[in-house]
Amino acid sequence: MNAEEFVAKLDGEVREGLERLGRLSGAGEPPGDLTVDRLLVVALKNELEASEIAAIWMADTQGLDVKLALGRQVGDEAKHYRAICDRLDELGTDAAKIDPRQSGYSPLFTYLRDLKNTIPRVAAGQFAREGIALVRNQCFIDYCDSIGDDRTAALYRSVIQPDEQHHHELGRKLLVRYVKNLKDQSEARQAANRTIELAEEIQEVARLKAGISRAPGC
Ligand SMILES: [Fe+2]
Ligand SMILES: [Fe+2]
Repeated sequence: MNAEEFVAKLDGEVREGLERLGRLSGAGEPPGDLTVDRLLVVALKNELEASEIAAIWMADTQGLDVKLALGRQVGDEAKHYRAICDRLDELGTDAAKIDPRQSGYSPLFTYLRDLKNTIPRVAAGQFAREGIALVRNQCFIDYCDSIGDDRTAALYRSVIQPDEQHHHELGRKLLVRYVKNLKDQSEARQAANRTIELAEEIQEVARLKAGISRAPGC
């Protein structure tokens, strides 16, 4: 199996996980006290963590193409954070009073932070995590559409999603470039699968503890 074939196969495997995640995220009737504001506050934490992980990795990543991809991502995710703050302000929630770090970093953040090599980083952080973001954000857009919040839906559709798509696609291209042998393939597969597992666990905890579903990714 060459790198192209491997990434196409991994894509299929990841897609199954993502579809399951999408079904879980959009499952059942949304609870009555679920609001766009509450979900956007969850999104702030995801955006901050995505930006910070890319920043941590950028410093000690050797490949120039990956380093620069991470640099762009740092900026994109911080830009999403600001755009979500602006929308929260419009909705009447004072975003300046929110610090997503107060509830601590997520188990996914800790897992990603500790990855040291380029292949697991690209497989987990860009390919899988950004794939998750695309699926989650689509569930959130559907929810916004269903309650008539066109402005939030438009923010996600025309500003945030194109960037997440770019991050995900770049992850795929970088994997094709970097995966050279069976060991690389197994590292990539393991990192992508673990990322999806952790995202599922976090989503399930959020649903059970706080009744949160349909939350956007990053
Ligand atoms: Fe992203
Ligand atoms: Fe983002």
